[in-house]
Amino acid sequence: MKKRIIAIQANITTLEVDVIVNAANESLLGGGGVDGAIHRAAGPDLLDECEKLNGCDIGDAKITAGYDLPAKYVIHTVGPTWDGGECGEPLLLKSCYEKPLDLMLQYKCKTIAFPSISTGVYGYPIEEAASIAVATVIARLRGTHEIEQVIFCCFSDYDLDIYNEILNE
Ligand code: AR6
Repeated sequence: MKKRIIAIQANITTLEVDVIVNAANESLLGGGGVDGAIHRAAGPDLLDECEKLNGCDIGDAKITAGYDLPAKYVIHTVGPTWDGGECGEPLLLKSCYEKPLDLMLQYKCKTIAFPSISTGVYGYPIEEAASIAVATVIARLRGTHEIEQVIFCCFSDYDLDIYNEILNE
């Protein structure tokens, strides 16, 4: 049986899963980092659909088609910007994992890949962000059998080592 939660090093745009999650901004109109990579790989139809969504709040999530991506859907979530950790960042980041897991169930999806939300441009320390990501997913998967696999898609080997350490604790 395949492991339900794994971490890998990859470009998330190449993954053949039901859903990839985008670390977007509140406009949902694209940006740099993983957001830019997803829009480039999905093609211009993704931006057309995003323009109709009226943006997205921090900690919330919205779904679109995947267009030219191998993934069927993209779930766009907006992570918090790190401001020292006392401004509600942990709960908002937790929500960025919970909301996509809820949405994927509504859309009958079984496999999902997350990037390391907020740990690039938004400056969230990777160790703290990865701990929240892993704990939130483990807790949510306990309550559901419909989700077959959650992939933490790390862009660097450094991030991958951190996720694996936490997953093996
Ligand atoms: N596949 C997987 N991970 C990636 C990829 C990729 N192709 N490209 C980058 N990463 P960031 P944030 C990693 O900055 O911190 C955008 O401009 C990256 O190495 O993309 O949530 C948005 O529009 C890092 O580990 O997202 C927002 O304005 C992780 O993805 C803002 O950045 C997240 O880095 C969001 O900032």
